[in-house]
Amino acid sequence: MLVDIRPVARLRGKTPVDVATPLTAVLEALRDGTADLSRVRVVCDWIQYKENFREVVDVRQTAPGSPDQELEVAVDLRRAGDCDVADLTRRLMTQNGSPDAPDRVWLEGWLPGSKGCIWAFNRLYWQALHLWERATGRGYESALPGGASDARNEAAVRELVSDLFRIWDDLSERRALPEELYVVELGVGNGNQAKAWLDEFRVMDQAHGRDYYRRLHYLMCDYSPHVLDIARKTVAGHGEHVSSLVLDATTPTTVLGFLRYKVFLVYVSNVYDNLPCDEVVNIGGRAYCVETRAFLPEAEAAEIAATASTATTDLPALIHKLLQIGPELVAEAMPTQFTDVDAAVEFWRRCWQSLRRAERFVPMPGLDSYQITSSLSGEMLRPLLDAHGDLRINVNNGAVASFVDTLPLLHPYGRLVCHDLFITDVEQSRTGFRGPGKYDGSVVNWVNGPLLAHIGSRKGIDVRYAPFAHRKGTSIVTMTAQVRD
Ligand SMILES: C[S@@+](CC[C@H](N)C(=O)[O-])C[C@H]1O[C@@H](n2cnc3c(N)ncnc32)[C@H](O)[C@@H]1O
Repeated sequence: MLVDIRPVARLRGKTPVDVATPLTAVLEALRDGTADLSRVRVVCDWIQYKENFREVVDVRQTAPGSPDQELEVAVDLRRAGDCDVADLTRRLMTQNGSPDAPDRVWLEGWLPGSKGCIWAFNRLYWQALHLWERATGRGYESALPGGASDARNEAAVRELVSDLFRIWDDLSERRALPEELYVVELGVGNGNQAKAWLDEFRVMDQAHGRDYYRRLHYLMCDYSPHVLDIARKTVAGHGEHVSSLVLDATTPTTVLGFLRYKVFLVYVSNVYDNLPCDEVVNIGGRAYCVETRAFLPEAEAAEIAATASTATTDLPALIHKLLQIGPELVAEAMPTQFTDVDAAVEFWRRCWQSLRRAERFVPMPGLDSYQITSSLSGEMLRPLLDAHGDLRINVNNGAVASFVDTLPLLHPYGRLVCHDLFITDVEQSRTGFRGPGKYDGSVVNWVNGPLLAHIGSRKGIDVRYAPFAHRKGTSIVTMTAQVRD
């Protein structure tokens, strides 16, 4: 039996995490059961997100239904002290790890993580942000690392703008600077960072004296028309220098194709970690796709169903309706279930809070049988998986798609700059929990930096990572991608 304790940094220090008690409880439960112990792995994580999609103890089937089936018992050490770990493990093990527990209300079938309904929740959150924020009285930025977007940091903006000026001065001297100077931002949120950037740009341009502001076009892009409305108001002071475009950040060229090779800066902050993500695990030299299945614990589902005068069995259909048409329309269409929009929003929030995902590991016949995006094969994962033994990694399919489809927009001297939660070394996946976590209404997954760097290098792009230089103690990392010299 293998025991994998991942949060090694927490094993020492002033308040070392107690591994022995929950581990002993798991071992006791396993001792009392009938599972073949040579086919059991115990994995201990520390899930730093207070809200997440995991139970304190989960049991996952590896190669379910095959003669090679094994079980993974996963324990969240952060919450283990609050419950009876032995009892939880025993209950899950009596079903031989089968997640078909009677106390779960399933919302979908088994799917790769990026296809699951947590992403429909995520999308709805951005489409109907005003309703969620009205109900909570909190803005989304308060959930971001540091409580505000680092893209608003003035020193960081100044550095970006002066880099641009340097490149433009140089091109200008060689008479190679185009008349129109394009900057694109993907995933703009409330527009505060666009405003910070534009304000700083205008001030610096005045001092610099080259009249670049007059030639500047800042394109704010987001898949939520509602978010774009808010952002437009925020940057109203910059008039005709700003346009807003509805687009999916995973396929920017579909709308921005007219800017091929013309954009000097593509600016992305706290968006890659919010895009759909599969996970792949390597166990004993074999790769598995992590399939997930969303559910609500039965007791919570019954309570939620009662608030909407619905039978628990009808709850999944009602939730999917909400995800499809949003709280305003669902309240209008189903007055028996929801007295008004606020009631529909309350229902949505409670579902989000109770939402969990079961997991199972399905063998991949070969990495080339898996597609990261429609144009990138799973072979791209090989250098990461081959070099690091047993490992679980984020594939960040949405971020990879966005990255790859942004590169053709870049001017030969252009850059893609992202502030986000990147891992910069694969080992960070072995020693820490990398998501998904639940923010207020939205999903967060750390982004696999080495994977983007590897994909970039295959395309002649230099990808660099540096800790966000302008706020101490932040986990935010800045990625800069540009055509290799
Ligand atoms: C966490 S907010 C970040 C906002 C802002 N950049 C900041 O740093 O505060 C994520 C933003 O990305 C947008 N977004 C998420 N998924 C997207 C997608 N697939 N296509 C376009 N925009 C997306 C959301 O609507 C939201 O505006």
